[in-house]
Amino acid sequence: MVQKNFVCKGDICYSKDKNTLQTCKDGYLVCENGVSAGVFAKLPEKYQDFPLLDYTGKLIMPGFTDLHVHAPQYRFRALGMDLELLEWLDTHTFPQEAKYVDTDFARKNYARFVEEMRKGPNTRGCIFGTIHRQSTEVLMELLEEAGLCAMVGKVNMDRHSPDILRETTEESAAETVQWLADVADKFPHVKPILTPRFLPSCTDELLEKLGDIQKQHHLPVQSHLSENRGEVAWVQELFPKSKHYGDAYDSFGLFGGENCPTIMAHCVLSSDDEIRLMKERGVFIAHCPESNTNLASGIAPARRYLTEGIPMGLGSDIAGGTRCSIFFAMAEAIRVSKMRWRLVDESLAPLTIPEVFYLATLGGGAFFGKVGSFAEGYEFDAFVLDDSRYDNPGEYDIAQRLERVIYLTEDSEVLHKFVEGRQLF
Ligand code: GUN
Ligand code: FE
Repeated sequence: MVQKNFVCKGDICYSKDKNTLQTCKDGYLVCENGVSAGVFAKLPEKYQDFPLLDYTGKLIMPGFTDLHVHAPQYRFRALGMDLELLEWLDTHTFPQEAKYVDTDFARKNYARFVEEMRKGPNTRGCIFGTIHRQSTEVLMELLEEAGLCAMVGKVNMDRHSPDILRETTEESAAETVQWLADVADKFPHVKPILTPRFLPSCTDELLEKLGDIQKQHHLPVQSHLSENRGEVAWVQELFPKSKHYGDAYDSFGLFGGENCPTIMAHCVLSSDDEIRLMKERGVFIAHCPESNTNLASGIAPARRYLTEGIPMGLGSDIAGGTRCSIFFAMAEAIRVSKMRWRLVDESLAPLTIPEVFYLATLGGGAFFGKVGSFAEGYEFDAFVLDDSRYDNPGEYDIAQRLERVIYLTEDSEVLHKFVEGRQLF
């Protein structure tokens, strides 16, 4: 249904800012031309003629953003969870990703990932493909057909991987330029994002070329940063002149700033200097707590990042993470923050429910613009959830019901979803 003016009635919750959860029981959420006109306890006169979608008793919240996810890894998720990052990449990830050279294989497997995303609460995602240009375009096509909004990257890799998953430097740059030409203006809701895999996968020559491509095409950038001890030590060896991991990206113009919106996943081991630079450049952090536990990477200091005002959202990091659910990522973010506080640093208080809800909605949504809230002027991304099997009718307020669904719900319990005011189901 493409209907950009309507009203949803139900139990509404959204973040006003990182500390403030707004709720409205039996409230009216107005969509006008695909954008939120706000939440009202009583429907204003001027919206009386809009069609009313009555979701009384159901929860209505802003769509979630998965700020870091690898679509090709969906098919082998939950394998190799007894390994650390570099071993896991060599053993499982690289051989699996190499299969996406075959576009038929890619279409079949990407369709499964896209269907899970379509049915769940995520309305947006920043998604890694593989090095393969045509398969990455297939992924973009499937996301567009599903009605989702996304940024998708053809991955760049010209070293330190098996022959079956490595490009030459020239090939990597040329394929990226060709891919950008092929997808330019092809998909209204799915856009390209420059995606050097991580520094060990890219030579200086390639990073230089990618820096030029970024400037020419004004592309956003996504990659990995300071995830694992072995990885960080390796990067220091590979880039001996750089002050830290982030500084190496920065020396190629791939680390934020006004004309280079950037997401860096993990930031588990970032130094004070690296954190300072991220803050200065407005680099978004994709906090991926489940992945960081599975691969024994550690616990990112999310409380510090929030306090310092560094832009941040949540990532599933499939298949470092096993669950696509951003509800699950929220609960994990709270759990690991408690462990860090208890065992590592008592000055970093655990994250709260309003904070993780903020990260899942406004925090990650901000990478897409005015996304992730029901405040007036935000893109109308929303979903409706039936929590009746958890709620003892009337016993809990909306904030408590939200708390319970964060820990209990399955993505499959989403009843209805809207992206930019388009109802997907
Ligand atoms: N670093 C480089 N590649 C990857 C990947 O596929 N997953 C994770 N978690 N970290 C990476
Ligand atoms: Fe990742």
